[in-house]
Amino acid sequence: MSTVKLAVVYYSSTGTVHAMAKRLAEAGRQAGAEVRLRQVAELAPQEAIASNAAWSRHFDDTKDEPKATADDIVWADAVLFGTPTRYGNVSSQLKQFLDTLGPQWSQGLLSDKVYAGFTASMTAHGGQESTLLALYHTIHHFGGIIAAPGYTDPLKFADGNPYGVSHVTGGNNDAPLGEVELAALDHLAQRVVRIAGKLSA
Ligand SMILES: Cc1cc2nc3c(=O)[nH]c(=O)nc-3n(C[C@H](O)[C@H](O)[C@H](O)COP(=O)(O)O)c2cc1C
Repeated sequence: MSTVKLAVVYYSSTGTVHAMAKRLAEAGRQAGAEVRLRQVAELAPQEAIASNAAWSRHFDDTKDEPKATADDIVWADAVLFGTPTRYGNVSSQLKQFLDTLGPQWSQGLLSDKVYAGFTASMTAHGGQESTLLALYHTIHHFGGIIAAPGYTDPLKFADGNPYGVSHVTGGNNDAPLGEVELAALDHLAQRVVRIAGKLSA
């Protein structure tokens, strides 16, 4: 069986979704996949970034990381998309990336792959599920296969999000990932790699 190709494509302002993406990439590698970890380009004006110390710091720390391209999605057998929750919706930065994929969509190059999503919000619930469902609208249009985690493992009863994986950053927007979220991220990566492997077998 050929090695599964996993793309982890994310946007993050202040580092939370970036930390989730890194964990997914590592879990994907541990599961035997070849992994591309890719950040989508920042679109916010410099004044907006500069107004938030955590955002400025994260932007500077990660600005040289490889940027997502359409080829990363075409290349992959499985794709995990990550975005902070923005008013219960997908961030404009990730949406902009999705909106550049029209040429690949029209050629059917985004279909028949395994997809799932992950997100973070400041408050509990806070729009996490609506963000993931909004993300999945696009995947339906791709003809993608959404591998939502559901409650396919007892650990999903702890994190409680059957639509994907999510984290609550809390009032200071800096709560680190806990054991529950880390386990849910590992489970998501293992699951999409396993399903993509079965599909390509
Ligand atoms: C414009 C904007 C809208 C946001 N909307 C929500 C929201 O609807 N619900 C919520 O709980 N948090 C909301 N937040 C907080 C972010 O979701 C949180 O800061 C983010 O998940 C942190 O991820 P990051 O560190 O990867 O950027 C919002 C933040 C911004 C800047």
